[in-house]
Amino acid sequence: MTGQKVGFIGTGTITDAIVRGLLREPAALSHVVVSPRNPDIAATLAKDFASVTVAVDNQSIVKSCDTIVLAVRPQVAKAVVRPLSFQNGQAVISVMAATDRATLLGWIGSDVRLTQAFPQPFVAERRGITAVYPRDHETAAIFEVLGGVVQCDSGRDYELLAAASSLMATYFGIMDVVAEWVTGKGLSRDKARSYLAPLFSELSRVAQEASSGVPFAELSRAFATRGGLNEQVLADFEKNGGTDALKTALDHVLASIEKGFPPEHVKP
Ligand SMILES: NC(=O)c1ccc[n+]([C@@H]2O[C@H](COP(=O)([O-])OP(=O)(O)OC[C@H]3O[C@@H](n4cnc5c(N)ncnc54)[C@H](OP(=O)(O)O)[C@@H]3O)[C@@H](O)[C@H]2O)c1
Repeated sequence: MTGQKVGFIGTGTITDAIVRGLLREPAALSHVVVSPRNPDIAATLAKDFASVTVAVDNQSIVKSCDTIVLAVRPQVAKAVVRPLSFQNGQAVISVMAATDRATLLGWIGSDVRLTQAFPQPFVAERRGITAVYPRDHETAAIFEVLGGVVQCDSGRDYELLAAASSLMATYFGIMDVVAEWVTGKGLSRDKARSYLAPLFSELSRVAQEASSGVPFAELSRAFATRGGLNEQVLADFEKNGGTDALKTALDHVLASIEKGFPPEHVKP
């Protein structure tokens, strides 16, 4: 457990997940400060963990903490960050999506040590992999506790991982399409669910446990018997534009990330 004091500005879904991940036993930190918004999430964290304090306002967090995590939505980021006075050299971690590094440094206005990180909700169980840019030993140590880190050597690497992580809803969307299809043909919803969730889970486990030198294409081949049903579905998927649709979606989300704040399709 480190004595470093970490403060969170924006106490919403991702802050809740990070704080719960850091403070579950054995706790990784002895002091955490959260902003008073959202009041319910802040109060519940303070009730659940004696080491959590709810600050009176955002500036008091910047003043009292060694490391500041910025975790408000991109649409309000400028209004929240710009009025704050940071100290030169202070560690600031932004987990905010679609908020360009140069713009953020401009709002901060001091010479802080800024890293960007893109955590997943699974950090609450210490099972989330987090992309971090640029390399930073202290930031990496925080997210290492929460499941693992990929440290990026360029902003481009970070953007590419952010684009890839935008596939989470599509992953469940694929499961949903399959579930709807089988139930539409007469299978009960319960049976569809209890079959599909473990199937996808085991496929992910195989990918996770395969040695890093094994390309995913090799796993795909290994799971497609020659002339068999899996091979047929993959060929059909490709022929009917499935692969192209996926690549187009990735190109589009990367373009949104490159364009930066604010994403046009997200309403405040
Ligand atoms: N959720 C994820 O899985 C995830 C993953 C990676 C990155 N992120 C990024 O993390 C950021 C937060 O996402 P989220 O999902 O946690 O959103 P969220 O649940 O909406 O949390 C944002 C929080 O910011 C608070 N807030 C609004 N104005 C504030 C102010 N002036 N001062 C302090 N706090 C203020 C909101 O409080 P009220 O409720 O009172 O409005 C809310 O609790 C976003 O930039 C997002 O891109 C999220």
